[in-house]
Amino acid sequence: MADKIQSAYESSKNIYDDVLTQGNFFSRMYIKFFWSGTDDNEIARKVLAYIPDDFSGELLDVPVGTAVFTEKKWSALKNADITCLDYSKDMIEQAEKRLNSCKNIRFMQGDVGKLPMTDQSFDTVVSMNGFHAFPDKQKAFSEIWRVLKNGGDFIACFYIRGKSKRTDWLVRNILAKKGWFTPPFQTEEELREILQKMYHEVDFYIDGSMVYFHCVK
Ligand SMILES: C[S@@+](CC[C@H](N)C(=O)[O-])C[C@H]1O[C@@H](n2cnc3c(N)ncnc32)[C@H](O)[C@@H]1O
Repeated sequence: MADKIQSAYESSKNIYDDVLTQGNFFSRMYIKFFWSGTDDNEIARKVLAYIPDDFSGELLDVPVGTAVFTEKKWSALKNADITCLDYSKDMIEQAEKRLNSCKNIRFMQGDVGKLPMTDQSFDTVVSMNGFHAFPDKQKAFSEIWRVLKNGGDFIACFYIRGKSKRTDWLVRNILAKKGWFTPPFQTEEELREILQKMYHEVDFYIDGSMVYFHCVK
């Protein structure tokens, strides 16, 4: 499974940013047709708005991917201590190119299901477009919870099943087969239940087949 995910993201690293940010005509058509026009740029703005501009704590970004959405925000958080982790070496290399002038940002190759950090080491964990790719979502939820401090924030967005037949078809028949997404995928109800059991506060929104939320441990 790890190899399939690695090679899926290795082969897509040059088109990835354009597809997600709707950088050309084809990606705009793809998003319009398969994702009912849900704008990942807009969701990323909402997710990142949960982090104050003067944030100065320990932050984990998992998976960092190419940092296409986070580059500007992370570069501006000069007093934060930021760790960016991803399975894929190729994606991390792209992120490093974007953020290599920031001395307060470190990069690590690793598995969200087996984080190499001690308990309660982060004030904030951000996970954008990660859970639909993670092979063991239960481990990812519990590892993120483990490394978060009490009172810390877990902020995320990703695909959920059951909102659009067309999107579910695409995910099942193409994205999962290619290794960009990895089943099983949660429905809104399943995800709400997981988060409400683990976190004190859950601020939860749906946009098409995407969910974004802010939880406090
Ligand atoms: C769709 S990309 C999202 C990247 C970025 N956060 C964004 O929004 O553009 C999904 C990423 O998850 C990474 N990934 C998949 N499984 C992982 C795991 N178990 N641990 C860490 N990263 C993983 C992939 O390598 C890929 O870079």
